[in-house]
Amino acid sequence: MISYSLKGQSALVTGANSGIGEAIAIGLGEAGANVVVNYVVDPEAAEKVAEKIKAFGSKAMIAQADVSNETEVKSMFQKMYSEFGTIDILVNNAGLQRDAHFHEMTIDQWNKVISVNLTGQFLCAREAIIEMLRRGRVPERSMACGKIICMSSVHEIIPWAGHVNYASSKGAIRMFMQSLAQEYGDRGIRVNSICPGAIQTPINKAAWSTPQALASLMTLIPYNRIGQPQDIANLAVFLASDASDYITGASMFIDGGMTVFEGFAEGG
Ligand SMILES: NC(=O)c1ccc[n+]([C@@H]2O[C@H](COP(=O)([O-])OP(=O)(O)OC[C@H]3O[C@@H](n4cnc5c(N)ncnc54)[C@H](O)[C@@H]3O)[C@@H](O)[C@H]2O)c1
Repeated sequence: MISYSLKGQSALVTGANSGIGEAIAIGLGEAGANVVVNYVVDPEAAEKVAEKIKAFGSKAMIAQADVSNETEVKSMFQKMYSEFGTIDILVNNAGLQRDAHFHEMTIDQWNKVISVNLTGQFLCAREAIIEMLRRGRVPERSMACGKIICMSSVHEIIPWAGHVNYASSKGAIRMFMQSLAQEYGDRGIRVNSICPGAIQTPINKAAWSTPQALASLMTLIPYNRIGQPQDIANLAVFLASDASDYITGASMFIDGGMTVFEGFAEGG
């Protein structure tokens, strides 16, 4: 029987007090994992997520850290190890946008997006891999030594005018993820990316909060609905579980068909 259970495993999800990260943290908890709910602001929202995880009988703790700050990331992982002992699953979810036309983009807008969306994934993955290598495989818990899931986007392959900093960060995540999968595959660490299309969360409220915006968005989505955080959580649980044990180095697009370019259905 294929196992989606994460019983006894320890997971850390960055940016887990909102949107996609929240749904993933709850999904991992529902599948049996003990979960660290990382947040940077709004501990009350993080606490609510932790309570939902505990309702499934899993352990949960909240941990404040700006993922782009090396000292804060290191102390978050230490806090996790003192509560849960180790890490089996890292979900590098935290991310943000600072949109501007390229010729008007400030160095602060550029640096903020690169430091959270790319350097943040580096800092967290490095800590997780150090611990996974130290500990090695625990076959009673999982076939893999560790699982790292990188949150990318359809914009790792779809160019995005007005969002050059964001698209650059997600394009970089593809090589980050694949190079890690190549470097650590023989030690049993699986590394994959999730590439969502349009998911209904606060990050893209402008794209779905009016009927006109939503109608325009639908012209990009063959399946004709906006994605929900739960859609992404379902894939994250699969990628964290032994059901996906032969998947590593993959960018998994989950986008209602956005990457089949609906604009070409009657054009081109
Ligand atoms: N919503 C979408 O349509 C969509 C599509 C593709 C990719 N994504 C990606 O999914 C991820 C989650 O986005 P979301 O849609 O849930 O948006 P969101 O704004 O609801 O969540 C982003 C989370 O990241 C956290 N965060 C931001 N900066 C941080 C920092 N320095 N340290 C720690 N946490 C920080 C936020 O506090 C929040 O919890 C992002 O990486 C985003 O790029 C989202």
